[in-house]
Amino acid sequence: MDKVVINGHTFKIKIGSSEINKAVGDVARQINTQLRDKKPLFLAVLNGSFMFASDLMKKIKIDCEISFVKVASYKGTSSTGTVKQLIGLSEDVRGRTVVIVEDIVDTGTTIENVYKQLKGLGASEIKVATLLFKPEAYTKSVPIEYAAIVVPNDFLVGYGLDYNGFGRNLEDIYVLDYKEEKKYT
Ligand code: IMP
Ligand code: MG
Repeated sequence: MDKVVINGHTFKIKIGSSEINKAVGDVARQINTQLRDKKPLFLAVLNGSFMFASDLMKKIKIDCEISFVKVASYKGTSSTGTVKQLIGLSEDVRGRTVVIVEDIVDTGTTIENVYKQLKGLGASEIKVATLLFKPEAYTKSVPIEYAAIVVPNDFLVGYGLDYNGFGRNLEDIYVLDYKEEKKYT
């Protein structure tokens, strides 16, 4: 499919499934080499990372565990702004190498929060593996060790990423088609 309509907006194809598969393979190869003796705990951040996590883990050939967490956003005090609380973590991360598995790193607010909480819980080494990385939007300093695909600052859907809850099931990644949008405005 070249184009899809989600919630009344037209998106055009940007990254096809074979390119995604190749990029996921490249990340898996790096992890298989670099974390070989670390027995890492992969922590996939739901919902967005489910498809990437599944495809990545099939290519990971070293001793490891995988578990799933969510990030719940709620409004903190005026000084703390939005608080992002890590929920669903039942593993003891003390002294462990943890690989956070994300769908996309945009401003980095989410990843920085998760990173700090895992540090606070005693993880000895934390790596970030993300399918997509938007360096132009990134404002934080947490190192993004494994970024499968670097993308410009556009809104994307598919392969786990959603637009208002829809589009996560698409096997390719799509971008909002501004030309089509203008036709209707
Ligand atoms: P950050 O905290 O600004 O890095 O944003 C991370 C979260 O925002 C991701 O986990 C996604 O849920 C969402 N997000 C950021 N960019 C996009 C996008 O292009 N499409 C869909 N969701 C996005
Ligand atoms: Mg996410």
